[in-house]
Amino acid sequence: MHLARLKRLQVALAQSNFDGAVTIAGPNLFYLTGLSFHLSERPTVGFFPAHGDPVLVAGNLEESKVTNGKPYPLRAFYYNDSDGPSAAFREAAQVLRFGKARLGVESRRMRVMELRLVEDAFLNPRIDAAEAIFAALRMTKDAQELALMRTAVQIAERAMLATLPTIRVGQTEREIGAELVVQTLRAGSDPDLPFSPIVASGPNGALPHATLSDRAIAAGDLITLDWGAAKDGYNADLTRTYAVGQVSDELKKIYNLVLAANTAAQAATRPGVAAAEVDAAARQAISAAGYGQYFMHRVGHGLGLEGHEDPSMHGRNEQSLEAGMTFTIEPGIYVPGVGGARIEDDVVVTANGLESLSTLPRELQIIGSW
Ligand code: CO
Repeated sequence: MHLARLKRLQVALAQSNFDGAVTIAGPNLFYLTGLSFHLSERPTVGFFPAHGDPVLVAGNLEESKVTNGKPYPLRAFYYNDSDGPSAAFREAAQVLRFGKARLGVESRRMRVMELRLVEDAFLNPRIDAAEAIFAALRMTKDAQELALMRTAVQIAERAMLATLPTIRVGQTEREIGAELVVQTLRAGSDPDLPFSPIVASGPNGALPHATLSDRAIAAGDLITLDWGAAKDGYNADLTRTYAVGQVSDELKKIYNLVLAANTAAQAATRPGVAAAEVDAAARQAISAAGYGQYFMHRVGHGLGLEGHEDPSMHGRNEQSLEAGMTFTIEPGIYVPGVGGARIEDDVVVTANGLESLSTLPRELQIIGSW
């Protein structure tokens, strides 16, 4: 599996006239090798030449992980804390023999520290962004990746179903968020959650990226919960909005518009459709009712090893959808001083439409008054 991914990368690098790709600790390195490293002040860098075996530079603490876990021939050079990494990078460069190299890097991810080490070791190579190459590799998920994403979504949903019956009027957003985190870990999530949960109640629901506050939830609130889980590195990212007791007609209207937008976006999703058309379908449903100005973000984002990855589901992305692409559909309405709602599902494009990986009900549920 990892060897096949390496081969696909190498074909793409050669086609784009790169001598090699350079990845730091994170999702691309994990995707290509199955080796998971934490980003820290000790650089871990993988070099993937267009031809030949990959090379890794890592701290000496990683040696057994690499030796036992490498999926194909891979030369590794280690450094210790007192010597630092420069010599190991120069050894890697000697093995790779790129000459006057053109290297593709993760321009949104690589830090100045790694960039300087690479520039010094390879004697001022030409450095270009290679995001498009990595995105093309990872955007379409294989059956094994989909199985992990399905499991991540199931974990997240189990966590929510365990949390909902504990929610009471008078609890704070922080208490509800803490319970949700506990239940997510208990349900089997990787310990690294993709993000901290959002619990936004009442007027806080008007903030798409609210943080947990000490506001106590009250009857008449809409409460928006945005939470995630992960399984072997693959992420789930869900949002549901619930009614705490009975809510006003305006909040019900907002909720039902968001539901209609979610439904319209799902109906628009199939192979050959542009990402922009999915965004437009959701926006049309909300704009027609006069709430367009309160839906101020894209309809969704790609999901996989990263919580946000390609395809970005925004109104100008002409990327054509293909079977196996995975992304969120998460329209929302945020009215300052009133509140808001968002309904987020994780979906995969199928041969003739989509499959929603998430299965929690989308119709407005009343909670907190048991
Ligand atoms: Co999301």
